[in-house]
Amino acid sequence: MIEKVYIPPIKIQGIKTKLVKLISQAVSLQDQAVWYEPFMGSGVVGLNLAPKYAVFADANPYVIALYNEIKSGQINSYIVREFLEKEGGLLKEKDEKHYYYIRDRFNEQHNPLDFLFLNRSCFNGMIRFNKNYKFNVPYGHKPERFSKAYVTKIVNQVKRLETIFPQNDWQFKCQSFEETIREASERDFIYCDPPYIGRHVDYYDSWDEEHEILLRDELYASGAKFILSTWDENKYRKNEYIDSVWKDCYKLNQEHFYHVGAREKNRGSMLEALLMNYEPLTAQDQKKVEYEQLSFVLPGMKQVGSMCNLQMEE
Ligand SMILES: C[S@@+](CC[C@H](N)C(=O)[O-])C[C@H]1O[C@@H](n2cnc3c(N)ncnc32)[C@H](O)[C@@H]1O
Repeated sequence: MIEKVYIPPIKIQGIKTKLVKLISQAVSLQDQAVWYEPFMGSGVVGLNLAPKYAVFADANPYVIALYNEIKSGQINSYIVREFLEKEGGLLKEKDEKHYYYIRDRFNEQHNPLDFLFLNRSCFNGMIRFNKNYKFNVPYGHKPERFSKAYVTKIVNQVKRLETIFPQNDWQFKCQSFEETIREASERDFIYCDPPYIGRHVDYYDSWDEEHEILLRDELYASGAKFILSTWDENKYRKNEYIDSVWKDCYKLNQEHFYHVGAREKNRGSMLEALLMNYEPLTAQDQKKVEYEQLSFVLPGMKQVGSMCNLQMEE
């Protein structure tokens, strides 16, 4: 059971920090099996589950480059501190001029440290590229972003990776999900967190029904056990693909109740789903899972209260 969820140095939209505990309870990983994560994003799930053998992959080459350079020692926590202190100081002095200077430099040279800097100083921590694969997120307008405490926080996140990488046999690969899934064998485990169908359109390549069906077919063809993260429903809409493309799966839900601002009408809930090709915890075991306090905050909005309820479909 995971007690504390570690936050990785990269921020990404759709990060699964709040679902790590539920996923860890639902995973069924045999000894010697390889953990495959074809849409690793920040990597928060696998990095917390810390399996002995893992393949982390993503189509975003810059996240993969950052983790590979930390793994090889080319980038370490000392280098990260020096870099962020220097560039953070220049950001404070020159404000947006420096942000756009680093953005241009990154789009020419693709230095993973520049990527880390942009990821932490851009608008809302978004990762978005244009059609020519140039990072195009505007400035977050926080010249004081890289305060001493904030730099130390990022440095500690990198330090943790430095500690866990040598203890495990992990690979980081830039490739499309089909390639990653085809590497898995029947005894392995695949955790998939693709862009949410019908919701996010801000990735450089949008995710549509064709992708969803291909993902389903590749997952079943692998013969491996898998979990897929997706959205289930909110107040307005239901994810229709759960009952069609994923109709043969078991489902676990985690509901986020959130309350934005002071008004009653701004209360809402969003149901997240984990879909899997094996029976997860029994309903009885599931009842033992205590109600937990978890938080859910909409970007740029103030959280007033939150609660998380773990449920299982009968
Ligand atoms: C929702 S995010 C994953 C978030 C991750 N689970 C986390 O908690 O940080 C989806 C990821 O899929 C990646 N992606 C999008 N299309 C892809 C593809 N065709 N193959 C591999 N990765 C892809 C994106 O770059 C993004 O990092």
